[in-house]
Amino acid sequence: MELYLDTADLAAVERLAASWPLAGVTTNPSIVAAGGRPLKSTLRELRACLGPEATLFAQVLGQTGDEMVEQAQQLCQWDERLVVKVPVTAVGLTAIRRLKALGVRTLGTAIYAPLPALLAAQAGADYVAPYVNRIDAQGCSGIQAVRELQQLLQLHAPHSQVLAASFKTPRQVLDCLLAGATAVTLPVAVAEQILQSPAVDAALAGFERDWLAAFGTMSLN
Ligand code: E4P
Repeated sequence: MELYLDTADLAAVERLAASWPLAGVTTNPSIVAAGGRPLKSTLRELRACLGPEATLFAQVLGQTGDEMVEQAQQLCQWDERLVVKVPVTAVGLTAIRRLKALGVRTLGTAIYAPLPALLAAQAGADYVAPYVNRIDAQGCSGIQAVRELQQLLQLHAPHSQVLAASFKTPRQVLDCLLAGATAVTLPVAVAEQILQSPAVDAALAGFERDWLAAFGTMSLN
């Protein structure tokens, strides 16, 4: 299972990378714009923070296949271990196919239904990213879309992986992993919710209180 953070917030990445088994970081144009720093320096800082093994994701903004391929090559010059996010449109599919031939790894993004994702996988995408919460917000089921997509890939494009994205709650993440997603990318707020629990805090406070009452110190001796 691969676990990513969906952010360009370097301080948050540093904080979480200290304890989480992160495979890397995903970004999109809105995330980078919110960070207010140029994409090239954002990627350089994320790389310095996460080390050489981490995978970074950044998205092309080109409107034509040529522009997308050119931007993808530029991104790969900026970072050697980068997966290029390409929107799954008719133009995007042509870019994914061309990038596959050039040996560039891609993720098909902006996916709201399983069949476009299958097309992206068959065009050569290494990952496809269903937008779980945004699908829910349309009145459909993001989890069901992930389940169906996972089955489709196993049957027809096993080289490609579901990287489930767009989460608002830990429950959505859990359900996606149970549905078979092999990679997820979490906003920082959702990641931090996973380890926040008043019940855990109360349990630990109880252990400490009982121990101190008996021994007067937190030493184990
Ligand atoms: C992933 O590819 C998307 O960039 C991202 O996860 C979308 O998340 P949002 O719906 O929270 O904006």
